[in-house]
Order: sequence, then structure tokens, then C-alpha cells
Amino acid sequence: MEDVLRERLAAAGQHHVLRYWDELESAQREVFMKQVSGLDFTTLRQDFECVTALPDGQGPSCSPGDLEPPLNNFLGSVSTSDPECVQTWRQRGLLQVAAGAVGVLLLAGGQGTRLGVPYPKGMCKVGLPSGKSLYQLQAEQILQLQRLTDKVHSTTCQVPWYIMTSHHTNEPTREFFAQHNYFGLQRDNVLLFEQSMLPALTFDGKLILKDKGELAMAPDGNGGLYKALDTSGMLQDMEKRGVRNVHVYCVDNVLVRVADPVFIGFCITMAADCGAKVVEKVLPNESVGVVCRVGGLNRVVEYSELSPEDTARRDPDGRLTFRAGNICNHLFHIDFLKRVVTEHLSKLPYHVAKKKVPHVDDAGKQVKPKQPNAVKLEKFVFDVFPFAERFAVLEVIRRDEFAPLKNADGAATDTPSTARRLLLSLHQRWLENAGAILRPVCSNSSDTELADPLIQCEVSPLVSYAGEGLSELVNGRELVSPFVLEPSDGAPK
Ligand code: UD1
Repeated sequence: MEDVLRERLAAAGQHHVLRYWDELESAQREVFMKQVSGLDFTTLRQDFECVTALPDGQGPSCSPGDLEPPLNNFLGSVSTSDPECVQTWRQRGLLQVAAGAVGVLLLAGGQGTRLGVPYPKGMCKVGLPSGKSLYQLQAEQILQLQRLTDKVHSTTCQVPWYIMTSHHTNEPTREFFAQHNYFGLQRDNVLLFEQSMLPALTFDGKLILKDKGELAMAPDGNGGLYKALDTSGMLQDMEKRGVRNVHVYCVDNVLVRVADPVFIGFCITMAADCGAKVVEKVLPNESVGVVCRVGGLNRVVEYSELSPEDTARRDPDGRLTFRAGNICNHLFHIDFLKRVVTEHLSKLPYHVAKKKVPHVDDAGKQVKPKQPNAVKLEKFVFDVFPFAERFAVLEVIRRDEFAPLKNADGAATDTPSTARRLLLSLHQRWLENAGAILRPVCSNSSDTELADPLIQCEVSPLVSYAGEGLSELVNGRELVSPFVLEPSDGAPK
């Protein structure tokens, strides 16, 4: 067995990873051998050569000048559509939820490196008055959506929550949910599954030793979803439960609307097999991918791969030409997902990310590089868009639905503080529209730029999913910050 592995490694030009073999104990050797023998060196080499052959910064799916904005006839907008039309989308969405035909799928396998927390991002709290984590906010939305639907349709519906984790996030996520009793959701409706890992490679394609008996590995990108859906049996689970539409979303948007009935109803109205929610990108250098067309096919071009010319391009009215900012909220019909898994899996390209990967050097010392020293290969969740037969895009109101949490406090954008302020300001609007009289906290900060808003009133998702049903609870009431409107506070349970 050991000899076979040695030969395979030598043939693939990766023999160096056995450099410390003699120093390993037998249990370590066993683990290491298992890790290495699971790799397909030929495919790895091909994938590496394919992505690294592209000019620096260019993605696998476009070259500069290829891009066009999305087609208008597949575009909807929450802000410019007739409110009755939005209401109809919502009702259609709720009907699907009532029929048990909606599932949600959370992409939670990322390592959260930019945020710099040593635990899964979903466990983060952004300093809200309630102290809730992202996972809790999302779980409570699912509960509330089930309740809302049951009230309207006299059902007892269930929305299964599929959570894709990775080797790094699986255990802590599992424990967190168990510790919190699944935040009140039915245990068997919360289904965790793991995506695959791939080795990090040096710039000339060599495997990297994280430790003397361990390769440096990373999750295969959020596009690893499709393979994982198949291998984990989750796609079959969806079919068994009668799920027809799956809302796929990223973990780190504090204003996400999980299983948003408006989005679901919109996609159904458009007879779409694949849909994306977007917000208007207003600054050229925002870290959001853009929904567009490349060679007539619908795609997202990631912010890291959009050429400087396309990034800066503007229409005659001054707005960015590529402004359909992807907020990583997608809706997939189950038949589309099945098609992707059976017909298109191998066609999904890899993207390359240059990273600083800690490793052991030739002298056996641990090194924490200051400059990128490795490439990671990643598939992207939106790279299935070109396979859609009917692709629809819904533009939503940015300040209502997009508050990303990407960086640690201190960075200019997308931090816990910016996310918290956006959520508090949305809830303030909801409460004021419902007739509440909001009283500020006493400020002790002189820096008005960085200070939290003086009004700090939060609405539990268990009270209101998207601002509805508040006036009967707060009209004319005085709420003194900091305040959290919870079901115990007079709201229906
Ligand atoms: C992502 C989108 C970007 C969009 C932005 C909006 C992708 C590839 N990019 O960028 O177009 O404008 O969100 O905020 O979707 N994840 C996994 N497994 C992985 C890697 C990531 O599950 O291997 C999950 C993360 O946990 C997160 C989501 O995918 O929930 C987004 O991943 P991230 O790498 O943070 O993408 P962004 O650069 O933020």
C-alpha cells in the first residue's frame, strides 16, 4: 500500500510530501495515507493547468469586452413594480410554502478568513440588542414564515433547512445547533451535509504540507454544492419531501430573507428554473459579483474577475452598466438541480484564489507566509446559470435586504458594525411606519461617523418576517432604546 502510494506520488511529481514520512508515528501515517490516496492527481493537474493558463485576474467564463447587462424581459423589480404585483408574487410564494414545496439551503462551508473569527460565520453575533447570532436570526425567520403560512392557509407546513458545511465548519455548526435546541425548529428539518475539500497548491502546482503528516486542504468553493447535494443524498431527500423550489443563500447577509415568498412567487410567475436576487451596485469597487450575459448566456462575473474597464463602465444616465449586484440569493427548481447534477457537474469551471497558506518548510519549521504562496481552486455556486432554460432576475431594495458581513471591525465596509447599523435602521423604519414612538439611547460617543444609531430598536423575526403585522403591536406605543420586540412582548406566539 505504502509502495503504491510512493509510486503514484513520484509519477505525479508530488513525492516531496513524503519528506517527513520517517518521523511520523504509525497512526499519523495511516491518516496521511488516507488523505493522499483520496486524491486524483491527473484531474488535479488538469484543473490547475486550466485555471492558471488564464491571464491574471480573468475568470474562466469571460474575457474583457464580452459582457452585456441582463435582458430586461427577465428582470423584475420590487421597487418599481406595482405593489399589487409584488403582493401577488408574495401570495404565490406562500402558496408554495403551504404546499411543502419550498426548501432552503444555506451555504455555510466558507472559512470566514476575512472576518477572522475562529468559528463558523453563522455563529457570529453582530452586537444586536438581542445578542442573536446569524444562525438564530435565520432559524427564527423560517419559524415565522411557517407560522405566517399556516395562518393564511390553515396548514402545518414545514420548510426543511439544508445546511452545507465543510470539514472546518461541520462539527462546530452541528454542536451549536444542538446546544440551542435547533432554535425551536424541528430537529429532523435541519439537515447538515459536507462539501468536499481540495488541496492547496503552490504556484507551480505542488501539494503543500500543512504539517509533517497533513496536506493543506480547503473547501472546493460554494459551487461544491452540486456534487455534495448528490453524494450526501440531500437531493433525494428534497425529492422525497416534495420540495420543488430551493432557496440557496450565503450565510453572511444580516438582512437576508430566508425563503422569501416574494422571490419564490416572482420566479414561479416567470416560469424560471433558476433565479437570482440582485441589488443595485452603486460604487465600481464594491465586492459584489454582477449578473450579466456573456456570449448570450446568463452568468455572474465575480468582482475579482471583472475587468477594470467593465467595472468602471457607465450608461449615459451615469449609472454603472454592470450594476445588477449579486447578493448570493438564488432560487433553483428541483428539476434544474437534478439536471445540473446528472448532466453538467463536470462542466463547472474552477476559479483560482491566491492565498497565504501556512505550511512546514524544508527544515521542518512552521511558516506563516506574509505574501500569498498558494492557489486554491474553487467552484462558484452561480456557474450553473448558463445551463438554465429560463433565468430570471429580481432586483430588491438594497437597504432592506443587503447587509453583508465580510470583514472585521476596523475595515471600511461590510463589518459587524455596518451590518448592525443597517439592520437597526431597517427595523426603525418598520416600527415608525407602524406608528411606534421611538426614544433614543443616551450617546456616549463623540464620533458620530462610527457611533451606533441612537435609536436601537430590534424586531424579532418571531414577531415579524419582513415588517408585517407590527401596527397592532406598537401603534402609539413608546419604545425606549435599546429595545427588542419579542413574542413575549404582546406579539402573537
Ligand atoms: C459572494 C458571491 C458574490 C456576491 C457576494 C455578496 C460567490 C462565489 N460570490 O462573494 O458574487 O456578490 O457573495 O455578498 O458566491 N462558501 C461555502 N463553501 C466554500 C466557500 C464559500 O459554503 O467553499 C459559502 C460561504 O460560507 C458564504 C458564501 O458561500 O456563505 C459566499 O462565500 P464567500 O467566499 O464569502 O463569497 P464572497 O466573496 O463574499
